[in-house]
Formats: sequence, C-alpha cells, structure tokens
Amino acid sequence: MSALPKVFIARPPEGDALDRLRPYAEVVVWGEDRPASREELIAHAHDAVGVLTSVADRIDEAVLDACPNLRVVSNMAVGYDNFDVARLTQRGIAAGNTPGVLTDATADIAMALILASTRRIVEGHNALLAGEWTSWNASFMLGFEISGATLGLIGTGRIGLAVARRAQAFSMRVLATSRTRRAEPGIEYVELDQLLSESDVVSVHVALNEQTRGMVGEREIGLMKPTSFLVNTARGAIVDQRALATALNRGAIAGAGIDVYCEEPVALDDPIVQAPNVVLLPHIGSATTKTRRAMADLAVDNLIAGLAGRPLVHCINPEVYNQR
Ligand code: DGY
Repeated sequence: MSALPKVFIARPPEGDALDRLRPYAEVVVWGEDRPASREELIAHAHDAVGVLTSVADRIDEAVLDACPNLRVVSNMAVGYDNFDVARLTQRGIAAGNTPGVLTDATADIAMALILASTRRIVEGHNALLAGEWTSWNASFMLGFEISGATLGLIGTGRIGLAVARRAQAFSMRVLATSRTRRAEPGIEYVELDQLLSESDVVSVHVALNEQTRGMVGEREIGLMKPTSFLVNTARGAIVDQRALATALNRGAIAGAGIDVYCEEPVALDDPIVQAPNVVLLPHIGSATTKTRRAMADLAVDNLIAGLAGRPLVHCINPEVYNQR
C-alpha cells in the first residue's frame, strides 16, 4: 500500500501533466474511453483524497457521501455545473477549475460556428461530395454575410469578450447582455429581449446555473428574426434544445451552430440532430492540443495545491479556506 494520498483521475488528461502529480500522490487512472458511471466513480474514489474530473463526471451528494476522505476535486473545465458546489463547500472540500487557458480556443469555435452556419460551410462541403456542384452559378449556396451585421452576446465573461473582439475584426456590431455590464469598447449593453430581436447572430456565453438554465426558451427564440442564427458553445441546458429544433424545422430562425447539448453525447435521433440548417460539433470548444495541455497543467496544479492544503490556483469555493 502506498503512503501517498490517493488521487483518482476520472478522465486522463492530454499530455504528461500527471507526471508532475506522481511525486505527491498515488495516481489511479480510469482506463476506459467513456466516463465512469456513478458506481464506478465511487468504487475507484471511495478512499481518494483528490479527484480529477471532466464535465462528464458528476460530483454530487451521493458521491461525496461515499468518498469521506476527499479534500480536493479538480475539474478540467472552466464550467463546473457537474459539481454540487454548496455540498463541497459544506464539507470543506476545495473545488478547482481551469479558467483563462481555454478562452481563445473556445472563442475560435464560436466564431467557426458563426461562419459555418451563416456561410453554409458544411452544406457546401456535402454538396460538393454529393456531386451537386455542376457549374459556377450566381445563385448557388448563397449565405448570410456577417460583415456589418449585428452579433448579440449573452454573457460577457472571458469567452464572450474574446468572441466580441473577433466579431469586431469581422466588422460586426456587438450587442450584449451581462449582469456586470463591464464597459468594453464597442460593446452596447441591452436587455435580453432587445438583443434577441435585433441580432443577426446570437451567441451564448453564460455559465450554466439555476438562473441561466433554460434562459433561451421558446419565448426567447420566438423573439429572434427569421433570418437570424443561434450559436451555443456554453452549455446545452441554457437553451431549450427542443424549442430550438422546432424553430429550425419551422424556419422561424435561419440556422444554428451548436457545440453543447442537454445530454452528451447527444442521441442521433434527437430532434436537434435531425433539424435542418444546423451545424453540430461534439463539445470541442476547448479541443486544441495547446489548450487541452494547459487545462491539464492547471487542473494538476490545483490538485497539488489542494493535497498540500494550500489555496488552489483557481478555486471555485474559496470560502472553504475560512472554514479551516
Ligand atoms: C469547459 O471548460 O467548461 C468546456 O466546456 C470543457 O471543454
């Protein structure tokens, strides 16, 4: 038996970040290419002091009850809706995440979805492969031009602001909603209804929590212009996925670009997958080698700090330190 505290790695990170953890912990890595079920997570982590998780691993009351030695949980993600933060804090368990390092990669994917949906990139690729490109035709595959158009950002945290900067480089006018309304050059803050009814592209950049769950529902989608596009790279449950599919089927909006879903992986028979004019990605907002390695490094730094009883580099619940 190892004298080192046990850390369960529920999702192996990209790169060699775990090598830095090994001097401080007995590192046990989940070996399957799928998330561990709750029972499997508990079976491996019941005696662990630390756990490294991805967005697919839920840390809730049942897991915490079954893992009494936990001192630190480290999410390899900026979002942490997979954590019951209140329960973690109650139990004095430090919870970490990886903000900052994935901002550019995720903003790039939002921009890619904006361009792919407005300029029909996937449709064009498929049309070529299907032999539908027979000659140059002035009316073939016409799209919507974002230059001079209005982008509506729901949320102006790090990623929202990075999308704003990219959109400004494409000569877009930028509207935004935000709790904090931080003054930013070229961003006009408005109420959500105005943003929805004026924007040509609406892009979602808020964290998922009880205030934002379902915030873009049937009523909100109904306010969007029939020529407009909805892009979601934040969390699926912020948008009513069924209402979005219905709107796409009815032509109530022109298109959508989606990287995140209510259930992941999304089922192939889900209405959103079957809907027309939608570009779908498999939750790859942060998926570049550079970013995934940086996320791994930060998640491991959080674990090492937590094991040593030091404040995490990025702590979701710093109140735990006042309890100690
Ligand atoms: C995040 O960091 O929250 C991403 O969604 C994970 O890729």
